[in-house]
Amino acid sequence: MERPYIICHMLTSLDGKIIGDYLEEGRAAYFRDLYEKIHERYECKAWMCGRVTLEEHFTFGHQLDLTQDNMESIPRTDYVANKEAKGYAIAVDPSGKLGWSKDHITDDYGLGDHIIEVLTEQVSDAYLSHLQKLGISYIFGGKERINFTVVVEKLKDLFSIDELMLEGGGFLNGSLLNEGLIDELSLILVPIADGASNSVTLFETSSFLNKPKPVNFILKEVEKLDDGGLWMKYITKRD
Ligand SMILES: NC(=O)c1ccc[n+]([C@@H]2O[C@H](COP(=O)([O-])OP(=O)(O)OC[C@H]3O[C@@H](n4cnc5c(N)ncnc54)[C@H](OP(=O)(O)O)[C@@H]3O)[C@@H](O)[C@H]2O)c1
Repeated sequence: MERPYIICHMLTSLDGKIIGDYLEEGRAAYFRDLYEKIHERYECKAWMCGRVTLEEHFTFGHQLDLTQDNMESIPRTDYVANKEAKGYAIAVDPSGKLGWSKDHITDDYGLGDHIIEVLTEQVSDAYLSHLQKLGISYIFGGKERINFTVVVEKLKDLFSIDELMLEGGGFLNGSLLNEGLIDELSLILVPIADGASNSVTLFETSSFLNKPKPVNFILKEVEKLDDGGLWMKYITKRD
């Protein structure tokens, strides 16, 4: 089955950290701003983030108060609320924790993009009902674990998404790397070493993932940024 071309777009410190105190340094603001500008430059109609990233930047930890009493069971089948959207924000939220209150992103970043939740079948009926009421689309990636190959094929098939920007965090990036789904890496290198040893890096693995085999990339473009930064475009080397 066909799938979108997937570009992982990220910003890191010299020591590969995607979060940390280095982002609070005065110089980092320029690079954060550039991250958004390069995102726009790609003109992709869809972007994907993990639950932790979305909670931090979009739902701000808002918790839903959903009652389960006398809930009718909702079939675990994909729900397409809008297949004509100009843009899509794809939320990887396996058990349905994100406290959305609208069917689209309201922030400047992705303003108006229609939300598609990526779930497992473990999600509650109450959460599915909440998504349907708001008009948020959802797709299932598996019973207990998400198979991202299945997910991206559904994004192409159900929403005609041809290009997808994968935008963190490290656990989500690692999941797609693991399945050989990253075609391109767009990396902004901030000329600061964070120094922390326990913060999240570009590609992470966890107990629910196997350690991926090393993945080779080929440098296609490099641009010197102001203040000593770099933007690098790598393409995945396929054998
Ligand atoms: N520097 C950058 O360019 C950049 C870009 C984006 C984000 N960030 C930062 O990255 C940080 C968050 O990164 P993170 O790696 O901790 O979190 P994340 O990737 O945003 O989210 C991780 C969560 O997503 C779900 N998930 C991811 N992979 C999964 C898989 N294979 N199967 C099932 N569920 C999966 C799980 O949700 P559940 O826990 O609900 O099961 C998991 O805990 C934030 O601080 C954010 O600001 C930085």
